[in-house]
Amino acid sequence: MPKSIKISPSILSANFGILGKEISDLEKAGADLIHVDVMDGHFVPNITIGPDVIKDLRQHTKLPFDVHLMISPVHKYIKNFAEAGADIITIHPEATDNIEKSIQEIKSFGKKVGISLNPETKIEKVTPFLNKIDLVLIMSVNPGFGGQKFMPEVLGKIKILREKIDKEKYSVEIEIDGGINFENAKLAINAGANILVSGTTIFKNNQGNLKKNINLLKKN
Ligand code: DX5
Ligand code: ZN
Repeated sequence: MPKSIKISPSILSANFGILGKEISDLEKAGADLIHVDVMDGHFVPNITIGPDVIKDLRQHTKLPFDVHLMISPVHKYIKNFAEAGADIITIHPEATDNIEKSIQEIKSFGKKVGISLNPETKIEKVTPFLNKIDLVLIMSVNPGFGGQKFMPEVLGKIKILREKIDKEKYSVEIEIDGGINFENAKLAINAGANILVSGTTIFKNNQGNLKKNINLLKKN
């Protein structure tokens, strides 16, 4: 069982007109990381923000930027996100023709590496790289939009990964992303996730009381 649970609020559910303030409010409310969803309208059917926005947001918090790249081809843009101030750069195996090369590219900038598995993506896409990466991001919705329904069938992948990581003593965190709420957070933690991403639950519940919502997720 993981010892401490971290919360990485997804700013996809924030007010994009006041993103700087939203981010500093998240820090004050006790967030551990800031989850930044980058979408290109091609790898996923939605468009969000790019490196220039991340660069300007950097001054609003000292928290690590947990940047989830849903763009394809991803490789040539890694440098831009690294230089913009990303701390963790997570990519999808389907978005690069050479995952090993993309892992090395992220590392070359001194950044942490994450690999994300879509609900239908097999665990074997990440297991060969567990000794080279820092994080596995398990998608519990099909990526593209906030506010979707949690898919409990991905919990089995988390369990297998957690056992493997603990047994082999890999230094890899397991993050879950999509549809996390106060009820299913416990299931994700029990399966072995130690970082919870949440957009809708953190920004929309309890009249948007960020502190309360972060604490409620952590308490699970
Ligand atoms: C989905 C994104 C998620 C999502 C989380 O493509 O990667 O980060 O926005 O938002 P909720 O918590 O609303 O599912
Ligand atoms: Zn995400």
